Amino acid sequence: MKNLEWGKMSFSYTKTDYIVYSTFKDGAWSAPVISSDFNIALSAYAGVLHYGSSCFEGMKAFRGVDGKVRLFRPEENAKRMIRSAKFLDLAAPSIEQFVQMCVMAVEKNAEYIPPYETTASLYLRPLLIGSNPQLGIRSSAESTFIVMASPVGTYSGDKILVPGTAVIARNHDRAAPNGSGSYKIGANYAQSLHPYNLAHRQGYRELLFTDALTHKYIEEFGSSNFFAIKGNTYITPDSDSVLPSITNASLRTVAKDLGMNVEMRHIPVTELAEVDEVNSCGTAVVITPICRIDDKVRLEDENPCHVYNFTQECGVKSRALYDQIIGIQKGTLEDRFGWVMFVDC
Ligand code: PLP
Ligand code: COI
Repeated sequence: MKNLEWGKMSFSYTKTDYIVYSTFKDGAWSAPVISSDFNIALSAYAGVLHYGSSCFEGMKAFRGVDGKVRLFRPEENAKRMIRSAKFLDLAAPSIEQFVQMCVMAVEKNAEYIPPYETTASLYLRPLLIGSNPQLGIRSSAESTFIVMASPVGTYSGDKILVPGTAVIARNHDRAAPNGSGSYKIGANYAQSLHPYNLAHRQGYRELLFTDALTHKYIEEFGSSNFFAIKGNTYITPDSDSVLPSITNASLRTVAKDLGMNVEMRHIPVTELAEVDEVNSCGTAVVITPICRIDDKVRLEDENPCHVYNFTQECGVKSRALYDQIIGIQKGTLEDRFGWVMFVDC
């Protein structure tokens, strides 16, 4: 194992040893290539550089209490990438190829899987791009699939479960109705960069988007899904323009299993005044509590039109959900739902 400062890691790039890639050309995928050169040769005319034909995934490999390495629901990431690629009309790897190349990326970078005792993990970033030279606006005929790996700590850089603030930006939309919001494509993130910069400059950790049609309902954070706890109920938005988070789906299963009610429905922003605990959830953020949400008419405004305050520490129910998910991922709890895949390394 590498001698890195595992305890000090945040969600930032750490150089590892290998990437794994494969190219789709003339109707077939090449055999996976393992490379220590992270520079990919690409024509300046490649579709991804002009028309944004790119989708990606995120998942983590964990070193368990038993020393074994676990991936969390990798087939779900594969299915979601296939769905994103269909939206972009890009050739996608099969579920088997996707999982096989993720496993190879873990095996080849095994020395970067953080020790069990830390809260760090090895983050995998599978990326699919349109790679052939082209000029006209059309989907790329050739694609390149790359799996990268980097050890990461918490998304915020704080200790786990330390709450942060968020701001609602009603004058910036993440995704249009009938648009691309439910696909994990690069374009959705490009859209969020400018408002994120504005929010970060004002000291907010997160940006909460509302529905682009009415700006009345909560959609999701720029990096993750939204869920709240109201009494004994787990509530999360039901929207066609929100990314179907694998973490959120898993949390809904765990919440039901813990005897909670689960509601997936429209959540008006005003309902924030009635909820007990608010969190962002996703692979990178796991569960990250939100202690305050400022609602701004315009993100550029100095003062919010409304301020919603929540628990200043991670709520009891959110903590119970966190413990279950992390317990399954790190092997301290039984994998009752069959979510874990072992990697022999
Ligand atoms: N929403 C957005 C916009 C994301 O980028 C992510 C991260 O992948 C999520 C939600 C959470 O999805 P998952 O739990 O599958 O990582
Ligand atoms: C993930 O959680 O895997 C993501 O892709 C979110 C991204 C903002 C890092």
